[in-house]
Amino acid sequence: MDCYKNELAGVLVSESEIKEICRRLGEQITKDYEGKSPIIVGVLKGSVVFMADLIRNISCDCDIDFMSVSSYNGAQSSGTVTFKMDLDRDITDRHIIIAEDILDTGITLSKIKEVLLHRNAASVKICAFLNKPANRKANITADYVGKVIPDEFVIGYGLDYNEKYRNLPFVGILSPKVYTDK
Ligand code: IMP
Ligand code: MG
Repeated sequence: MDCYKNELAGVLVSESEIKEICRRLGEQITKDYEGKSPIIVGVLKGSVVFMADLIRNISCDCDIDFMSVSSYNGAQSSGTVTFKMDLDRDITDRHIIIAEDILDTGITLSKIKEVLLHRNAASVKICAFLNKPANRKANITADYVGKVIPDEFVIGYGLDYNEKYRNLPFVGILSPKVYTDK
C-alpha cells in the first residue's frame, strides 16, 4: 500500500502467511469446540480484521460479540485498562474465546479474562493473532497463537499507531522515525 511506504521498516507477516495462520487457528478451534457453541469475543478495534478472517475458518456452530477497551497512548502501554463498550448478552455457562490482535504486556487480556470469568462463563480462552513475549507484565498465556514476534512496534491487519495503518493487508514494522520525529 503505497500511501504508507515511507513509514514502514519492513513486512513481518505477509498476506499469504496470514491466510495460513487463520486456516490453522480456525481448524484447531473447530476441533476443540465441536458441539460447544462458543462465543468469539473480538476486542475492538484492533481485532476486527483478524476476527473476520478467523470466524470464516471456524466451521462449528459459534456466535460473535465485541467489547472495547483501551490501554494504549501512541506506542506506549498506559498500564490501565478502561472498558468503553461491553458485550450485549449474558455469558453465564457459555464458552468464550477472546480474539485479540496482539498479546503484549498482557495487561488488557488478563483484565478482560478476569472480568468474563467473574460473569460465570463456562470457560474463557484466548486466541491472539500475534504474541510479543518480550514485554510481558501480566501472568497470562494465549491458548491459540498465530505468530510469536520480536519486540517491535507493529502495524497493519487491524493494528494501529494513533488510529492509523489498520487497513494495511499485512503486518508491518513501524519505522521508529514515525514516533521519534515528533
Ligand atoms: P497489552 O495490554 O500490552 O497486552 O496490549 C494490548 C493492546 O495493545 C493490543 O490489543 C494492541 O491494541 C496494543 N498493542 C500492543 N502492542 C502493539 C503493537 O506492536 N502495535 C500496535 N498495537 C499494539
Ligand atoms: Mg490498539
